[in-house]
Amino acid sequence: MKVLVLGSGGREHALIWKISQSSKVNKIYCVPGNGGIKELAEIPILNPNDNIEVLSFVKENNIDLTIVGPEAYLVNGIVDILEDAGYKVFGPRKNASIFEESKIFTKEFLIKYNIPTGDYAKFNSSQSALQYLESYSNFPVVIKADGLAGGKGVIICKTKLDAQNAVKDIMVSHKFGKAGQNIIIEEFLIGNEISILTFVDGKTMIPMVLAKDYKKIGNGETGLNTGGMGCISPNPNVTVDMETVCQNEILDPIMNGLISEKMDFRGVLFIGIIYTKKGPKVLEFNVRFGDPETQVILPRLKNDITDVFLAVINRDLKNIKLNWYENSVCTIVLASDGYPENYKKGNEINGLNNCKSIVFHAGTKSENDKIFTNGGRVLNITAEGDNHKEAIKNAYSVIENIHFEGMYFRNDIGK
Ligand code: GLY
Repeated sequence: MKVLVLGSGGREHALIWKISQSSKVNKIYCVPGNGGIKELAEIPILNPNDNIEVLSFVKENNIDLTIVGPEAYLVNGIVDILEDAGYKVFGPRKNASIFEESKIFTKEFLIKYNIPTGDYAKFNSSQSALQYLESYSNFPVVIKADGLAGGKGVIICKTKLDAQNAVKDIMVSHKFGKAGQNIIIEEFLIGNEISILTFVDGKTMIPMVLAKDYKKIGNGETGLNTGGMGCISPNPNVTVDMETVCQNEILDPIMNGLISEKMDFRGVLFIGIIYTKKGPKVLEFNVRFGDPETQVILPRLKNDITDVFLAVINRDLKNIKLNWYENSVCTIVLASDGYPENYKKGNEINGLNNCKSIVFHAGTKSENDKIFTNGGRVLNITAEGDNHKEAIKNAYSVIENIHFEGMYFRNDIGK
């Protein structure tokens, strides 16, 4: 099989690493790719934002299976274009990708199907949002831009002034561009966060093993939200009983809702949950694999992942049983100092040769056999162990040998 993967992050490197283990795959392409993906896949010159260019490439190169990583390409309708031309492609179509494109759509779906979520109000003007905040007293509060904001469109505001400033940043200064013409003001929930990634084929939903993402830039979950600074699987805070409650109160009603709405959702539905004292509540949906969740989940998967992709596409997931290793996997993100705001690119990365763990590249580029930083999140140092302690120790011990100017990482991942 010839496989094309769209994307350039640690998630796509992990997907390609797993796909490359399939005996059915003899060629992998990736666009735009990164400095590490280059070792496993050919990187053609192709604009992944241009659906017609991608379709031509798939036709000319007889691609058997395309995997779409980031939400932006899904929302741009690449799945519709390839599928309508008769090609196999993994990811939801544009209509179903709305769950990530619009937080308001997701909230309304959750309410309609009695799926627990935080109380919220929606606004389409800064005036109405600011007026609402005048009499609001339950701080902290969460302000969410409605639309794609690269994982940065959620702001936790400790005071009324912070909330007023967030509304102005989003709706008046357009900090997140078009994502912010509408906003949600939502109650701040306290509890343990759980990332539940599920394969969905339109009729059947199968959860993957659970993971815990570390979203904030600083140790102890402090500072700005990021795409994720590290991850561990299994999730240390979740018991079997909690998993059963999530299945009954969240996953089953979501699947029933998707069927009732005739969404034909096929791909990965990533359900962000917070387990509060009153039980689990949905924080958000993503319509793709998580990053860095994928980097810790896929090393635990025993199945040939191409079998799972094809079962999802062919609406045949009921005939798949996912098998998992009983180990723990930890990934630590090495970022460029300044991320998630301004940071420098182009610093040489040393110490990657003879690494004793899996290194999934994200913002890197390769030039003259050297690897340079090329983004905010740069590398995902991923290690396994028989238990959490061992996986964490193994991952941190590898970092000691890696260096680039401005290298930043959290030192409490998994702890
Ligand atoms: N780690 C969260 C995300 O992928 O959006």
